[in-house]
Amino acid sequence: MNQVIGKHKLELDTPCLVLDFEILEKNLARMQQIARSAGKNLRPHAKTHKCSVIARKQMEAGAVGISVAKISEAEALIEKGIRGILVTAPVVSPPKIERYLGCLQRDSSLLVVIDDLDNARSLDQSLKKRDLGAGVLIDIDVGLQRTGIAPGKALEFASSFAGFTSLHLKGIQAYAGQVQHIKGHEERRRESMEKMRPAAKVFAKLRTEWRECQIFSGAGTGTHDIDTGIPEITELQTGSYTVMDAEYLAIGSAKNPLTFDAFQPALTILTAVVSRNQKGFVTVDAGLKAIYRDGANPIVFSPKKEDMNYDWFGDEYGRIRYEESAETPRLGSIIELIVSHCDPTINLFDRFYVTQNEKVIDVWEIDLRGRCQ
Ligand SMILES: Cc1ncc(COP(=O)(O)O)c(C=O)c1O
Repeated sequence: MNQVIGKHKLELDTPCLVLDFEILEKNLARMQQIARSAGKNLRPHAKTHKCSVIARKQMEAGAVGISVAKISEAEALIEKGIRGILVTAPVVSPPKIERYLGCLQRDSSLLVVIDDLDNARSLDQSLKKRDLGAGVLIDIDVGLQRTGIAPGKALEFASSFAGFTSLHLKGIQAYAGQVQHIKGHEERRRESMEKMRPAAKVFAKLRTEWRECQIFSGAGTGTHDIDTGIPEITELQTGSYTVMDAEYLAIGSAKNPLTFDAFQPALTILTAVVSRNQKGFVTVDAGLKAIYRDGANPIVFSPKKEDMNYDWFGDEYGRIRYEESAETPRLGSIIELIVSHCDPTINLFDRFYVTQNEKVIDVWEIDLRGRCQ
């Protein structure tokens, strides 16, 4: 990979992911500063970037740990020396519990979420057999209806922890995924406040009854500046802010109703024109296997021509439409796109080409990619 260092990004082979170093650093610093000035911790989500180099940078910037979606991601980060990992999904099946115990043996600070009494009993017994103890957060369903227990049942669920010897209740998680992409800051704020309020009440009560119950983790990028206004929340688990995507840019921010500009897009994908024999569009080499199809369409970032649009064209290809009166893009020319949805797109690639002033300065392995167990 060293042979690409120093090259201009437009000389890279395509399709490939490019990460603007300075923008990434600014995004990391900004989220950390927003959390700090609101008196909150930051445990950013690695499900977005899937890269231990970025996770380490987040820790160096002041994060208290890293959130992950999967035990296999936790395994990889623990291997790299990252501590304070929160698994934001329940760990249920026997093979997964086995891997969880393996992680705990190497990192006793590992936290997982839980939303079921049978699961709690099973974890407690498994821990006891290995002479281990572990902290857990109760996952509260704040309307996403994916995982989590209803706020009204959470206190009763928490009371069962009195019977556990190895499982320790450390707090709650509440992630309102359905709210993150609501367009319009005021509407998003109203919805987030309404959905998070019951979880905040649960936490306030738990904190008075359980000495060890000190963590309330929540928020995504879309509500990062909204949920910081909820006094009970103790930490943010935001993910997409690191690199951003077209879906997030479209939601609008507090100051800009058209574009969510709190963070800048650090991630782009480069794709080359491979055929130009049609009227009104050229064919490029990034299709469904390179850009995950979800949410908004990719945005043409460069060349800076407003009349150019990307559309998927099967597994291997995309179509760049342009005004027929405009010049046809050259064969082999590079089109740079902001991807639709950063997380699943990053998961399709092995590495980021890291650039500064458009030149490649480093190559970072996306070492957590494909870790979906
Ligand atoms: C449980 C959980 N927490 C946090 C996040 C991060 O959200 P975002 O990427 O919107 O910042 C996600 C994203 O899907 C998630 O599922």
